[in-house]
Amino acid sequence: MGAAQITFANVSLGFAGRDGLVLDDLSFAVAEGEVLVILGPSGCGKTTLLRLIAGLVAPATGAVLVEGRPPVAGAVSATVFQNFRLLPWKTVAGNLAFVLPDLAAPEREARVAHYLDRVGLTRFADSYPRALSGGMQQRVAFARALCAEPAVLLMDEPFASLDAQTRELMQGEVMALSRTTGEGARRTVVFVTHSVDEALLLGDRILLMSPRPGRIAAEIPVPFARQSADPRALPDFISLRERLWGALREMVLNDPRSDFYGRGQSLAADSPQDG
Ligand SMILES: Nc1ncnc2c1ncn2[C@@H]1O[C@H](COP(=O)(O)OP(=O)(O)OP(=O)(O)O)[C@@H](O)[C@H]1O
Ligand SMILES: [Mg+2]
Repeated sequence: MGAAQITFANVSLGFAGRDGLVLDDLSFAVAEGEVLVILGPSGCGKTTLLRLIAGLVAPATGAVLVEGRPPVAGAVSATVFQNFRLLPWKTVAGNLAFVLPDLAAPEREARVAHYLDRVGLTRFADSYPRALSGGMQQRVAFARALCAEPAVLLMDEPFASLDAQTRELMQGEVMALSRTTGEGARRTVVFVTHSVDEALLLGDRILLMSPRPGRIAAEIPVPFARQSADPRALPDFISLRERLWGALREMVLNDPRSDFYGRGQSLAADSPQDG
């Protein structure tokens, strides 16, 4: 793993008109080429954390540095959003070309064609997003982010709205592409998820966040990261899964603003549901 590419130093942030802090005193670093997974319950500030890295919001106190500087939107990172955010009036190729306004037309077309091919959507270049399945739209969103050839890829629950089968196929395929740049170098990825299994399958390291205000509850290196075999039957996987799921369940059951507050008994009787 390389030097730190992203650093948070005592970062806190609130929003006007909202009580208290959203993120409270976060300090961590992401190494160049690392896949860092942010895992935490709804509302703990995961999207806000990505927006800080993207340069879309600035910290109230502390410092966020990307490649040694406060991030400028669009400069170093690109984001894959949870709901794809495709432009419905543009074709698939048009959605990709849209993020490359500074390239000359021939170069832009070549770049778009290259990334559509990488995600297997060449045949759909002239289709509109509404004609595509959810999994295909997700691949377009992903190709659009890669198209900018960002050093840092930010992914906000990119698989959350896919069915379980598509999700499993996409996880492998998309992550293989995300982790390497066009030149074969390792790319830095910050990946947000609610899902314990996804965190363990995709991350080199997991940052577990607790909610209201968002704090780092634990930092967990993934011992079986980047092994080609499916890790899900490993004892390490099973024990980490139990530990993370237990921690998340505690947070949600003890959060007065959660829908599950105080429902410990009835939920504890159920087996873990990962989603
Ligand atoms: N622009 C904003 N103005 C006011 N409050 C905001 C703003 N953005 C986020 N918040 C609040 O900050 C908190 C964290 O939001 P954020 O979207 O980062 O959470 P999250 O962990 O991504 O949640 P989820 O898992 O549901 O996507 C929430 O309470 C949210 O209401
Ligand atoms: Mg979010």
